[in-house]
Amino acid sequence: MYHAEITGWGMCVPPARLTNHDLATFLDTSDEWIVTRSGIRERRVSHVNFSELGLVAARHALAAADVDPSELDLVMLASLTNDSYCPNTASIIQDALGARKAAAIDINTACTGFLYGLHLCRGLIATGQHRKILLIGGEFITHYLNWSQRNSAILFGDACGAAIIEPSEKPVGLLASRVGCEADAKSAIQITNFGSAYERLTDDFLYVEWNFDGREVFKRAVKSMGQACLDVLDEAGVAIEDIALMVPHQANKRILDALATRLGIPEEKVVVNVDRYGNTSAGTIPVALTEALDGGRVKPGDYVLFAAFGAGLTWAAGLIRWGDRVTRVKTSDAELPPCDKTALELLAPHIERYRKHAERKNAAGKAENPEAETHLI
Ligand code: UT7
Repeated sequence: MYHAEITGWGMCVPPARLTNHDLATFLDTSDEWIVTRSGIRERRVSHVNFSELGLVAARHALAAADVDPSELDLVMLASLTNDSYCPNTASIIQDALGARKAAAIDINTACTGFLYGLHLCRGLIATGQHRKILLIGGEFITHYLNWSQRNSAILFGDACGAAIIEPSEKPVGLLASRVGCEADAKSAIQITNFGSAYERLTDDFLYVEWNFDGREVFKRAVKSMGQACLDVLDEAGVAIEDIALMVPHQANKRILDALATRLGIPEEKVVVNVDRYGNTSAGTIPVALTEALDGGRVKPGDYVLFAAFGAGLTWAAGLIRWGDRVTRVKTSDAELPPCDKTALELLAPHIERYRKHAERKNAAGKAENPEAETHLI
């Protein structure tokens, strides 16, 4: 049995920043409300498709591990905002990298996607079925938000991270992992009009609504991540005091604080970047991990604890013992093409589309409560 070690890491965040003040120019919200309730100050809006973010993150991770794309035997991609469902987006990345020997699979568990992916990779590496895996997690989510719904639109941003997973005979890498799903609460995060279960032959198709019970998710997130963390620590026989760093899913600073308090992990050991990127769903953990490594926050032999929750409601936790190397073997100069628009300019067509949609619904008398239909100002 081999251990599954992360040997390379990389990230890509698009340059256009959308601040809370930008949001308040078209939504009935404020910087004060968003910062107080979520800790988010700004997020990024992508000017390129998701696979372009994924490719840049992947090239950085490959260089960090000094792995050539031709050596990869699996590309696994976690996202719910793929470029394409047929072909899957992992195939698009495989082709662009020239990773001809690699199988290609997309997985979707929303915000827990990267940890679910790590959990799967652990099994595939342990049994010797795969030896060099590129795992990508990220989102192009701003282009799928309902920009008239203030309770969900303010939370999310675009970003992508990647990791290379390889076998090790030493007891390092993902020592324990747990995944699960509280499907009884699946409607607490639900994107409508986006899939085969919805009426497709109407003008409303693809005008998504985010059915969002933030309070319910908040409560369950703290509880499920807390328990999953205790379970992985128990499985690995590691005490909470021995954790050097926690890299949690970045949905809300208040959730991170509540989780850390519940586990008794001091604030300085928790990686937080939700203030700068918002919730990038499957992207949060690989991006936060990359920033932590590049910022010198992970030392050889450290125990690093991961936890996430998301739509489903899925939850996941993982415990890694970091190996000897905490720096990149090589670096890559991969970057996105320049962006000549502001975040507000990139989003303008989407905002306008939702404004027209709300007007149309109201005019047709479809809205039972027009005030509740839109928070656009
Ligand atoms: O990663 C998985 C996805 N992430 C999540 O599901 C996030 C989990 N939940 C949360 O982060 C928090 O619940 C939120 C940040 C979403 C909301 O914070 P909250 O403290 O739970 O607020 P709330 O939903 O209870 O709303 C309080 C009030 C409501 O007004 P009333 O009913 O009290 O009059 C909302 O209508 O705040 C109002 N509100 C807003 N006001 C200004 C909701 N969104 C906004 C907004 N700006 N953007």
